[in-house]
Order: sequence, then structure tokens, then C-alpha cells
Amino acid sequence: MSLKSQLNESNIPRHVAIIMDGNGRWAKKQGNDRSFGHEQGVESVRAALEASVEIGLEFITLYAFSTENWNRPKEEVQALMQLLVQAIAMETPTLLKQNIRLTTIGDVASLPEETRDKLQECIDVTSQNDGLTLVLALSYSGRWEIVDATKKIAEQVKEGKLQIEDIDEDLFGTSLNTSNIPDPELLIRTSGEYRLSNFLLWQLAYSEFYFSEVLWPDFRKQDLVDALKDYQSRERRFGKISEQINK
Ligand code: FPP
Repeated sequence: MSLKSQLNESNIPRHVAIIMDGNGRWAKKQGNDRSFGHEQGVESVRAALEASVEIGLEFITLYAFSTENWNRPKEEVQALMQLLVQAIAMETPTLLKQNIRLTTIGDVASLPEETRDKLQECIDVTSQNDGLTLVLALSYSGRWEIVDATKKIAEQVKEGKLQIEDIDEDLFGTSLNTSNIPDPELLIRTSGEYRLSNFLLWQLAYSEFYFSEVLWPDFRKQDLVDALKDYQSRERRFGKISEQINK
């Protein structure tokens, strides 16, 4: 059965965000070091992207490296940065073939030069693609992003370009890294952890959450479909009552 035929085509979310968790535990369970789990996690990224294209999602955001991840052992951080460079180099032809555009959110300036350069190269060559947009959250945290947006707005007020009365939710939203990206309708977190871990704090205000027991390196296309099926069984009320939604 195709992935799409398992879903209600009139209720496919535009944007799914994923906290890819469990790489370290997956590797440890088999007596390997944590970085092996991250390497295997790239295969799951591949599967998630292929499934997203088949299903027809417009945006997928992957939490690849948080601001807090800088505090991990130096060797693990280096291995992750190296893996990113390798994965991007390897996957760029596939992104082009699948009409996927790459973009990033987060404090990308804090990444090592090699990682930044590889990312920029891939962003440039995929910029004309108009299928799925892959948003990689790198050196990202929701609180960092909110503070960053606040600074930009304060600067504009200071320069007299903006009145305090003009600050509203729309303006704040456009000052975030995600200004041209719709809020995710669905957040998925793998590995049986039930936390947000500082991810997309503003954007997830009305998203549905789906927690899976699967460790990220085991995540495959059907796991994404299962999450979407669960999403499609929910009633999104946005603060209203059921009768108002269904009339
Ligand atoms: C969380 O698992 C995972 C990460 C911090 C890194 C995610 C990176 C990848 C999947 C590979 C590179 C990605 C791309 C986009 C090419 P964890 O280490 O916190 O696992 P644990 O909770 O079991 O310790």
C-alpha cells in the first residue's frame, strides 16, 4: 500500500517538526559508542525525507543540534559536526533529485567554518527547488530565537523605525528565524521522552504532539505515516469548542 493511500488526503499537514531522539541509547544498547547512533540516524533522516516527499508535506523541520548540545563531550560535538558535513555532501544530489530545498534555523554563525560552508553550498544549489523544504535546526533553541527576535525588534524601536504599539504577534512571528515558514501542525518526538527540550517554543503553541517509543535510528517511513494517522484522528479546536469546529 502506498504511504499516501493510508492517509486522508484532505487533511495532510503542511509542516511536521521532529525531535530526533534516542541515537545514543540505540548505539549503547549494541555496545557501540554514541556517534555510531548518530551515523545510523542519517538513514532515518533519509527515510523521513523520502516519506515526506511521497506524502506531499511542504515543510519538515529536524532538530539536529540544540544550543545545549554544545555542552556534550568535545569528541561527540566534533563527530556530529563532521557527520553533518559528510551527510550534506552525500545527500545533496538526492535533495536535488527529490526537489527538496534546504534551509536552516538557529545560530548558524556559531558552527565550525567547514560545516557552515557545506551548508551554504547545499542551500545555494537547492534554492530553486519548490517541493519539500527541509529546515535543519542547528545550534538552535527556542529561547535563543525569542531573545534574538526581541533584540531585532528593540533595535528597530531604538532607531525610531518602529512604534511599541506596532508590536503584535504577527510582527513578532516575522522577527523569528522561521518568518517564512508556517507553524508545524504536528510535532513528533522519538525515544519515549516527553519533553520539548527548548524546540520551537513559539511555533508549537497550537501544534499536536506525537510521542513515539521508537529510537531515532530505527525510525522508518511507516513510523511517520503512523504519526500522521494519529494526527488525522485528532480534533484541532484552537481554543474553541467542538460544536463550533464541526458546524
Ligand atoms: C539526539 O539523540 C540526536 C542528536 C542530538 C543529533 C541528531 C543528528 C542526526 C540524526 C544525524 C545528522 C542529521 C542530519 C540532518 C544529516 P541523543 O544523542 O540525545 O540520544 P540519547 O537521548 O539516546 O542519548
